[in-house]
Amino acid sequence: MNKEILKNTAQKMVAYGKGILAIDESHGTCEKRFKALNVAFNEQTRQNYRQMLVTTENIEEAVAGYILFDETIRQKTDDGKRFVDVLSDKGILSGIKVDKGAKDLALFPGEKVTEGLDELRERLIEYKQLGASFAKWRAVITIDEENNLPTQACIESNTHALARYAALCQEADIVPMVEPEILLDGNHSLETCREVSQKVWSELFRQLELLNIYLPGTILKTSMVLPGKDSENQVSDEVIAKETIESFKKVVPEDLAGIVFLSGGQSAKESTDRLQKMHELYKDLPWPVSFSYGRGIQQPALELWAKDPVANYKQAQQALLERALANGEAVK
Ligand code: 13P
Repeated sequence: MNKEILKNTAQKMVAYGKGILAIDESHGTCEKRFKALNVAFNEQTRQNYRQMLVTTENIEEAVAGYILFDETIRQKTDDGKRFVDVLSDKGILSGIKVDKGAKDLALFPGEKVTEGLDELRERLIEYKQLGASFAKWRAVITIDEENNLPTQACIESNTHALARYAALCQEADIVPMVEPEILLDGNHSLETCREVSQKVWSELFRQLELLNIYLPGTILKTSMVLPGKDSENQVSDEVIAKETIESFKKVVPEDLAGIVFLSGGQSAKESTDRLQKMHELYKDLPWPVSFSYGRGIQQPALELWAKDPVANYKQAQQALLERALANGEAVK
């Protein structure tokens, strides 16, 4: 593990005014998003869509890194240039999703554990050769108050896997983005989300410490503290901003390189406004706090492109750039 490389990469990922764009949808997720907009799902449409995303001009003003998927890190533009090279020519880092998805957690109905540790060491070496400097592993935690979920078993299984993944990344000088996503689904209260989020993050940092993870070379990617999307008691952006940051202050070690959010089903505008509110309210945080949105940045662009991939190509890129710049402004 080269701490200097890890620290430098992590700092670049959350450089002032910048964040990360997630375009690492697995085939299953990508198919769902394309089908919802009546787009055919095949290698060619995926290449065309992702090419539109990686060749958007000036996006480097607000985006420091793109998270790619196994297929995407190997793909090229129509004129034969590797996506990774298009990005690095603009000073943008390439990252890679390395988990193999959330599977049912045996003996714990309704809960998931993320798989993908087998042969991860070898896969990381290959991804590094292909140009990846950071990686992502997503764990999902479901809140279900009636059934007392999440269980301690689910939290420990997932955070332990995140720590083992992070160790393999750092061994290969790849910055691990550790992503516990506390799902927005359900009607749970803000208080429950706060309690679960703090519990998950505390356990995560305990596991990271146990496995000797170098925190200045690690990025936390997570969800905001907010009520379930079906809860009748929705709260203001200001409350979400305060609850989220105050929770971080309680349980996140100060030497962590940075914290970024997923959008997780919030609208593009909500995810930007809430991030902006955090920065309006808190000026001296120990870590950079930024974005790593997928849908929160892509959705308007995806909808335009889906309507007419040829005629709307430039317009879709414009929409992508606007969302990225709005988030860049939000963190300034
Ligand atoms: P969303 O912002 O669409 O939730 O995606 C971010 C991500 O990478 C989830 O793993």
